[in-house]
Amino acid sequence: MRFSKRVVLVTGGARGIGEGCCRVFSKEGAHVSVVDRDLAAAEALVDALPHPAVAIQADVSIESQVRSAIARTVEHFGQLDCLINNAGIHPPDTPLTGMTPEQVVDVLRVNFISTYAACYYALEHLKKTKGTIINVSSMTAVLGQRNSTAYAASKGAQLSFTKSLALECADFGIRVNAILPSNVDTPLMRSWAATLPDPDAALDRIASLQPLGRMADIEEIGRTCLFLATDDSSFITGQGLQVDGGASLDY
Ligand SMILES: NC(=O)c1ccc[n+]([C@@H]2O[C@H](COP(=O)([O-])OP(=O)(O)OC[C@H]3O[C@@H](n4cnc5c(N)ncnc54)[C@H](O)[C@@H]3O)[C@@H](O)[C@H]2O)c1
Repeated sequence: MRFSKRVVLVTGGARGIGEGCCRVFSKEGAHVSVVDRDLAAAEALVDALPHPAVAIQADVSIESQVRSAIARTVEHFGQLDCLINNAGIHPPDTPLTGMTPEQVVDVLRVNFISTYAACYYALEHLKKTKGTIINVSSMTAVLGQRNSTAYAASKGAQLSFTKSLALECADFGIRVNAILPSNVDTPLMRSWAATLPDPDAALDRIASLQPLGRMADIEEIGRTCLFLATDDSSFITGQGLQVDGGASLDY
């Protein structure tokens, strides 16, 4: 019960990595706010969690909905101890000239501006609890990814934002970290593979990129977030924790 009665808000919490976070935190006694644009999926997950949870519909690319999701979470549970900025999209494989600058703005809105906005509105609540912020970035932030310039740049923005915000937040006792997964078996991963000519071969190739020989599962990433949200990581702030099964080794 490492998060008993403490409150975590997970954006994009209904599926994939966000779902893994909700499940892991709930098993540890957390009160979980599952924020997702897909209300039905969020409600289904809430029903399956072992401790109190609430489903809140919000599109994180819309600032007013982010503000309202945070306000409703605090109204419902009375406080906020951890914000996990996880909601994100990965556009199909596209070279630079296949995506217009306007389309890049759309990616940034979902993947990065949402993170900024959620921190903006959550800060006053996290100051009261000396809470934590965890931004779900990606190894693409440091390694790059072919045909994914907009995505990788949005993840890089989350990482550098994390470091700068950690400096500001240290004064308030709030720790801010990012996690950088390599490849995680989620609906996003599978729908991205489906845009490629041979999805099964692509998933096998992706699994083999990790020396551990597989992708991460969603609860492994959830447990990494739990570590960053508890005093087990009390001296860690401003870091991008590479949760990559060794994928970045052996150059
Ligand atoms: N899957 C991976 O291998 C991988 C690797 C590195 C980083 N990431 C990052 O992890 C995060 C989660 O990825 P995933 O693979 O779990 O994705 P996913 O598509 O499997 O799940 C994402 C969840 O977020 C929700 N969501 C998407 N856009 C939203 C929006 N605008 N507002 C509210 N909710 C929204 C979806 O409804 C869904 O429930 C993303 O930020 C992604 O960039 C994933």
